[in-house]
Amino acid sequence: MKAHLITYGCQMNEYDTHLVESQLVSFGADLVGSVDEADFVLVNTCAVRGKPVDKVRSLLGELRKQKQQRPLVVGMMGCLAQLEEGQRIARKFEVDVLLGPGSLLDIGKALESNERFWSLQFKDELHGHIPPPPTGKLQAHLTIMRGCDHHCTYCIVPTTRGPQVSRHPDDILRELDSLLAAGVQEVTLLGQNVNAYGVDQGAKLAGYPSFADLLRLVGRSGVRRVKFTTSHPMNFTEDVAAAMAETPAVCEFVHLPVQSGSNRVLRRMAREYTREKYLSHIAEIKKHLPHVVLATDIIVGFPGETEEDFQETLSLYDEVGYDSAYMFIYSPRPGTPSYKHFQDLPRELKTERLQRLIVKQKEWSARKNAGKVGTIQELLLRGDAHDAGFLEGHTRGNHPTVVPKALGATGPGIYRARIEHATPHMLYGRLIGQDGQDLPELPRLNPEAAALSSPLQMA
Ligand code: 5AD
Ligand code: SF4
Repeated sequence: MKAHLITYGCQMNEYDTHLVESQLVSFGADLVGSVDEADFVLVNTCAVRGKPVDKVRSLLGELRKQKQQRPLVVGMMGCLAQLEEGQRIARKFEVDVLLGPGSLLDIGKALESNERFWSLQFKDELHGHIPPPPTGKLQAHLTIMRGCDHHCTYCIVPTTRGPQVSRHPDDILRELDSLLAAGVQEVTLLGQNVNAYGVDQGAKLAGYPSFADLLRLVGRSGVRRVKFTTSHPMNFTEDVAAAMAETPAVCEFVHLPVQSGSNRVLRRMAREYTREKYLSHIAEIKKHLPHVVLATDIIVGFPGETEEDFQETLSLYDEVGYDSAYMFIYSPRPGTPSYKHFQDLPRELKTERLQRLIVKQKEWSARKNAGKVGTIQELLLRGDAHDAGFLEGHTRGNHPTVVPKALGATGPGIYRARIEHATPHMLYGRLIGQDGQDLPELPRLNPEAAALSSPLQMA
């Protein structure tokens, strides 16, 4: 069988795609790079906003057309598959295999079945399952918990992914060992709300460590870099900031979604914290990690958001000084409390607010990135950049960074660089050796083309 997987949504979904791909390979499938080469196409879906749902709908429409022309099995997995809405779409587009986010390990049974195979139960075996490490990658994801126990009124995820379950720490550490043995140098711990690791009922009874202690454990494993995402501010404890500060492998990067700067909106979102409480967490983080890089998620145009509410979001942005932000227009999701109870704001109003927020974000990203010029950053270089003669990678704070190829650093790995130039989206540096001296640059393959497309001129 030739299988091709397509992934929408978050890093949790990327992890799940890898998990299912490795299952398929173990059952003898070949993974192919395009729909045209495949006889089994599996779409890993996201339901968090209307847009990813629309994308899945049009992709499945395309696939149905192809099914009429050649033998093709079409599958759908992930968050949308778990919802009524997704199952309606699956019926309409004649989807053969449907796996909810908790039933991914049923992929084997799905392959054996000669008829339509749908499975939507959450299976506990998933938590103990350790997928093989990705091949030839320096970075990997590691899911430490699934589901979410919060009930933000806009959010479909508690419905799609169910209540929170923390994975057993032994399973996490075993998976980490296998990643390290495969040469992985940067691990991102994943969960809908990693700060709440260990606080679900089962985990508490079993005496799992807190998230802060898990960070300390993972940090001692020999991995070069540890990151984590994402967190609900309610579950952020000062001990997490302390663990980050005392564990050198843990990167000084925190993604703490705020969603809104207005207490009135936060209340209607049922976020369970106030602006003041959120800012006190940020102050704790900055106290322990003075050079922390901060990112957030913001929803604009939540039902009932007034101009004053929106101004509060803008002023919170200034008060925190985020390095980056994911910004979303509120999207009413059927099945959520805000969909049921609140009136959506006009589209133009929401779009106009988003544009104003993007201006704010660009100003801050420009200012924060400019502040990196002249500093030394540790880079994980993934490989060749788009421009010949350059390598691309990212810092401990997740800044995308480009450097010219240099002697002794032509391939993937962790290096140090002096940052020489910055735009709101990119840092440009020069690799340095242990002595702090520049590593000699390699001659460009095509000096003319390279000069034309030099990132320093693009900026
Ligand atoms: N509309 C817009 N954005 C949403 N998010 C979650 N639900 C919605 C929605 N209904 C955003 C939140 C969350 C991120 C993953 O997606 O900001 O943190
Ligand atoms: Fe989308 Fe949320 Fe599901 Fe991730 S967890 S795929 S963001 S709905």
